[in-house]
Amino acid sequence: MTKPYPTPRLTKKEFAERRQQLMDMMEPNSIAIVPAASMKVRNRDCDYAYRQDSDFYYLSGFEEPEAVLVLAPGRDHGEYVLFCRDRDREMEIWNGYRSGPDGVVKDFGADDGFPFSDLDDILPGLIEGRERVYYAMGSKPAFDRQVMSWVNTIRSKVRTGAQPPGEFIDLDHLLHDMRLYKSKGEIKLMQTAADMSVVAHIRAMELCEPGLMEYQLEAEFLHEFARRGSRSVAYTSIVGGGENGCILHYIENNAELKDGDLVLIDAGAEYQYYAADITRTFPVNGKFSEPQRALYDLVLKSQIAAIKTVKPGNHWNEPHEATVKVITQGLVKLGLLTGKVDELIETEAYKQFYMHRAGHWLGMDVHDVGDYKVGGEWRVLEEGMVLTVEPGIYVSPDDKSVDEKWRGIGIRIEDDVLVTAKNHKVLTAKVPKKADDIEALMAAAKKQRRKR
Ligand code: GLY
Ligand code: MN
Ligand code: MN
Repeated sequence: MTKPYPTPRLTKKEFAERRQQLMDMMEPNSIAIVPAASMKVRNRDCDYAYRQDSDFYYLSGFEEPEAVLVLAPGRDHGEYVLFCRDRDREMEIWNGYRSGPDGVVKDFGADDGFPFSDLDDILPGLIEGRERVYYAMGSKPAFDRQVMSWVNTIRSKVRTGAQPPGEFIDLDHLLHDMRLYKSKGEIKLMQTAADMSVVAHIRAMELCEPGLMEYQLEAEFLHEFARRGSRSVAYTSIVGGGENGCILHYIENNAELKDGDLVLIDAGAEYQYYAADITRTFPVNGKFSEPQRALYDLVLKSQIAAIKTVKPGNHWNEPHEATVKVITQGLVKLGLLTGKVDELIETEAYKQFYMHRAGHWLGMDVHDVGDYKVGGEWRVLEEGMVLTVEPGIYVSPDDKSVDEKWRGIGIRIEDDVLVTAKNHKVLTAKVPKKADDIEALMAAAKKQRRKR
């Protein structure tokens, strides 16, 4: 077994700077409230593996459930208050370590730590006198009710001079804009997630052969991710052989991989709360058929054209427009679409084969936060933003409008792209994607397997 892999983490300073940046942007005399993710029962006594809420983690680095983060700029006893579970010897023996209110001050930079069980007693007092409350209303209904009950507690005391807040402001707007711009530390984590995903995709290409089950390739990803320090996939892996590749979010992964088919794998690791998101499509037997190769080369051409447009100053939709143009032209050339390219684009005829957009923001969430339009216009790309570029062509197995040879072919190619000061960097560039390179890699691996 190799030694543990290097595991970069964000510093306490970075979390503190984020809190400060948010507080600097908040309106005067306001307070921000961010609840932790809740635990979810999987079955009977077993919970799903807990994963902290991205916004909560972004501001705190704190991974325990049953916690609430409060930022109260200007508060005499400290601006950063963290409610968390109390230490409890019995519970810790059964369920694991807890930081407790003293621990969150000592280890997580909180100015004040309070037991979660004291929320109802303490929070109304923190809100009272603040004019505005920043809070992501609507995403956690149970917590919404709690927030309203605290406000109502204050309202019930107005005759004694209590001052309830007059305004709720959506916290997402400020926080999600911050999350869109990745720091050097964040980029390092995203590169780490990308690197382990790269290794796994190459491994899948090397090990693939007819007769394997889709879940066996999925297992190779889980193995590579876990042994490199990833505690979870960034999203459920998609391993679709043959026409399963035409189902955009296929996750059953329980069919046999057949000779002559392609396999589409969309899989990425989450590392320290940051996602990678890679798709590769390759022949199960190591060699593209002619129609597979024709469509593959077209998707790749469109992806390369789109990646070229990723640079500061260009807008969010340019990569998508590039893919639509190249794919529509190519589909006409190959005879899958007929008509004038401009008209086919105008009427969105290409959506018969390419029905999704070319990408999304990538970060702590695989479909990350951040507005795609600002003031009604597509957002201009800036240094530090990370996005995916992932065009595809999917020919439905029962699409009688096209020649039989195309039917059931599903192809997507996806990379993660960082906008740099002057251009871009493909974080996932090391997974082969030229058809010749994939065939060469698979042929070499096959040779090795025969020797053994
Ligand atoms: N893996 C989900 C996506 O590519 O958007
Ligand atoms: Mn993907
Ligand atoms: Mn994606």
